[in-house]
Amino acid sequence: MKSNQKIFITGSSSGIGEAIAYEYASQGAILGLAARRSEKLKTVKAKCMELGAKNVKNYSLDVSDTKESISVAKDFVAFDKEGIDIVIANAGVAASDNLSSGDPTKINQNLNINIIGVTNSIVPFVPTMKSQKAGNIVIMSSIASFTAPAYFGGYAASKVAVRRLGDTWRTTLKKHNVRVTTICPGYIKSEMTDVNEFKMPFLMDTDVAAKKMVNAIKVGKKTYILPWQWRPVIALSRFFGMKILSI
Ligand SMILES: NC(=O)c1ccc[n+]([C@@H]2O[C@H](COP(=O)([O-])OP(=O)(O)OC[C@H]3O[C@@H](n4cnc5c(N)ncnc54)[C@H](OP(=O)(O)O)[C@@H]3O)[C@@H](O)[C@H]2O)c1
Repeated sequence: MKSNQKIFITGSSSGIGEAIAYEYASQGAILGLAARRSEKLKTVKAKCMELGAKNVKNYSLDVSDTKESISVAKDFVAFDKEGIDIVIANAGVAASDNLSSGDPTKINQNLNINIIGVTNSIVPFVPTMKSQKAGNIVIMSSIASFTAPAYFGGYAASKVAVRRLGDTWRTTLKKHNVRVTTICPGYIKSEMTDVNEFKMPFLMDTDVAAKKMVNAIKVGKKTYILPWQWRPVIALSRFFGMKILSI
């Protein structure tokens, strides 16, 4: 990877986003780190600088806030050196539907943060990428975009939606030399999965996952499913129907 790439990562205060930030920091990147918990971001920034990041700017941001997301993107494009190389829409939540409560709030939060949060994070960078005739868009979907996990309809639906956004943006932006990589992780160790009480098949370490994701972005993968064991499972489910994945 060329050094001093400019990379904006949402949801970088913990888990996968944090690990991706460290991976790029050690490659000398200029980083924009966004999340709601600014204290956590301060710690991540300090570690990124230690690891060799050229420069880091933190943004205390709720990705569901469109106006604020536009303003943050504008600020980061002008930060250090003009432009943007990679934007990674990674921020997300995974609340269960809580259907029996009769209250759609939890589902709506999933949809709002995981879908609107992705459009808010990426679209404000598109004009710059188009004028540069270069850029990488990265969307954090999930294997839940292929499965039908009980109790997590809002989450799964949000991950289908952003995978499809990525597929269409890839076609739309190809002529502008803007690439789109959609990442579909299985179970990766993070705050999100630490609360799970069930057995998580093929659970992957966060740092290992981040390294693989960064490599997938570098080589321009379109849709990247990891750990690899999920690929045959998903392919088989397409052949035999969703039933085997209704977990
Ligand atoms: N871990 C897995 O097994 C797995 C599998 C498939 C997909 N994913 C996806 O990977 C992404 C990262 O999740 P993770 O596993 O690393 O979980 P995590 O440790 O809980 O990280 C989630 C990140 O998203 C941020 N975030 C949540 N809501 C936000 C909001 N409204 N505005 C801005 N930032 C927000 C959180 O920061 P703040 O709380 O500080 O805002 C945090 O940095 C998510 O999109 C998730 O759906 C994870």
